Amino acid sequence: MAAGFEEAKVTVPAVLAAKGERKLAMVTAYDFTFARLADRAGADLLLVGDSLGMVVQGCETTLGVTMDEMVYHTRMVARGRTRALVIGDMPFLSYQVSTSEAVANAGRFIKEGGAEAVKLEGGVHVADTVKRLSDIDVPVMGHIGLTPQSVHRMGGHKVQGRRPGHGAGGRDRLFEDARALEEAGAFAIVIEGVPADLAAEISRSLSIPTIGIGAGPACDGQVLVLHDLLGLEDRIAPKFVRRYAELGRAAVDAIGQYVADVREGSFPAREHSFSSPRPVARIKEA
Ligand code: KIV
Repeated sequence: MAAGFEEAKVTVPAVLAAKGERKLAMVTAYDFTFARLADRAGADLLLVGDSLGMVVQGCETTLGVTMDEMVYHTRMVARGRTRALVIGDMPFLSYQVSTSEAVANAGRFIKEGGAEAVKLEGGVHVADTVKRLSDIDVPVMGHIGLTPQSVHRMGGHKVQGRRPGHGAGGRDRLFEDARALEEAGAFAIVIEGVPADLAAEISRSLSIPTIGIGAGPACDGQVLVLHDLLGLEDRIAPKFVRRYAELGRAAVDAIGQYVADVREGSFPAREHSFSSPRPVARIKEA
């Protein structure tokens, strides 16, 4: 556990209580190994993001990710955490078709995946679904602004809230979305890819925490995609990412050294090899 972090298990009430008291640190995680590392490092929230479609599966968008894939990854992440709150990200069309499908799919994250909450994208249009899930005690994190499942409507992964108006992506609409989610019972809201001043205003106007990504420093917490912050991604990182390590380069160097050692015969060495038992001393015949 990193110095200065509380050891107590992060719960939904603890996330709510953090508003105005301390900043929340969330990272994505997609498997046991990285979940365990992030949990040990003191991350408060582990998001099993549908970004795994891009980061782990190598797709252009998140749209093809399935419920089965999300549940599979969530289960691995849940096994790796002891303290952090695990949130399963509901993939495209797992909650938009009907409220009953949303309930069934959210239930899978909890029952099969071991998540403690779910996240879904949208505001006013998903408020009924958020209310239904919250009413049956499935904690919901909202997600507004640059919502990657709306990539085709947005014409790419583009910053939202730069123009006024009540239409999708408009500044006024983002306030309405945030308010609708809070009223519906969401316990927190991710604000992605919006101007910092707008995210600050929205954060101030809510009693639940906001978690920013590309939304400036005034949100109540921050989230980054783990592969971005660890420098595991080849693509040029978006402006809002700080790379805290260059693990991609370190991995290529390490694997390259292994390849060279195998080729020149210096690996495996004696210490990596097993020996046969010593020959049994021949018993002299009397
Ligand atoms: O899928 C994801 O990783 C996300 C975060 C970037 C917020 O939604």
